[in-house]
Amino acid sequence: MNLHIGVLSGDGIGPEVTNQSIKILTAIADKYQHTFTFQHELVGAIAIDETGNPLPQKTLNLCLEADAVLFGAIGNPKYDNNPAAKVRPEQGLLALRKALGLFANIRPVKAYDTLLDKSPLKKHIIQDTDIVIYRELTGGIYFGEKTLSEDGTAASDLCSYSKTEIERVAHLAFKAAQSRRKKLTLVDKANVLETSRLWRKVVTAMASQYPDVELDFLFVDNAAMQMVLNPSQFDVILTENMFGDIISDEASVIGGSIGLLASASIGEKYALFEPIHGSYPQATGKGIANPIASILSAAMLLDHFGLLEEAETVRDAVERAIDLEICTPDLNAHGGYSTENVGTFIEDFIENVDALHINT
Ligand code: IPM
Ligand code: MN
Repeated sequence: MNLHIGVLSGDGIGPEVTNQSIKILTAIADKYQHTFTFQHELVGAIAIDETGNPLPQKTLNLCLEADAVLFGAIGNPKYDNNPAAKVRPEQGLLALRKALGLFANIRPVKAYDTLLDKSPLKKHIIQDTDIVIYRELTGGIYFGEKTLSEDGTAASDLCSYSKTEIERVAHLAFKAAQSRRKKLTLVDKANVLETSRLWRKVVTAMASQYPDVELDFLFVDNAAMQMVLNPSQFDVILTENMFGDIISDEASVIGGSIGLLASASIGEKYALFEPIHGSYPQATGKGIANPIASILSAAMLLDHFGLLEEAETVRDAVERAIDLEICTPDLNAHGGYSTENVGTFIEDFIENVDALHINT
């Protein structure tokens, strides 16, 4: 298969981790006789610094032409505590999601057996956790009208959803549940929010199309509590944009490091793959950032194009690295493995996996 991949590695540790994914995708292409080409463009703070725009037209054009986008991270502390900043790096990512129509953000969360004691949560609580969060990504409060009064003492953000916006992401979540443990949990705040009541109504009406899926509902405050009390009760979670943002960071604690969590953002036409972590400015250039979230996002890219064996090979290699504690300091404080070391171990495993299987 020929794939033209647009690479937006962005800010902070984005380039370091994305480079490891490129290395892994290149190893996969060699092994399975595919041709993957990579073309880079700027996004985020680095794009603001160079062009004044967090999503320059050239970058958007690349994403519109490419078969898929591999995204690193964006953000720079110089914008975070400056409420007066007119342009922010995050606007680049939000504008890109909107422009590409990436309405579904898929975030798998799982507890790896060898990492059970890395999580601050107790082992018996997180054991066997295997969740996929379907987060709506182009609607809700993120994209509603914003206002700030002239005197700067009042502000508002509008949260709105349409039936169509809810249905298209809900169909994907129902289908995912069908291929898994057949349980779908809608997380909302239907006791307070009108938009949440619409979500419940629309999703409930769809349930008859998926009779094998058990649908239940949870208020987001309770869901946040359940996520740390009993996370293995969840199979597929469906939720709106902001709730999904928050509970997926919370859920990342289960895996032992946010540096493990991958995501795919999917629309009708385009797809983008990114780790859920941010640009981790304190770690930039130190070679300590965990590349696994980015590498697992690359595996989701392979899945997206039906390259299932290839994706499985990447996941096997990642699991081997984790089992052998070939991990960056977030997971192995004494191991001394760098971002590059972890990437190279995974690359070597992919290159030699057949020989390894013969030997075992
Ligand atoms: C994420 C990030 C983004 C979001 C930010 C960077 C705009 O936190 O992908 O989860 O809030 O969606
Ligand atoms: Mn987030």
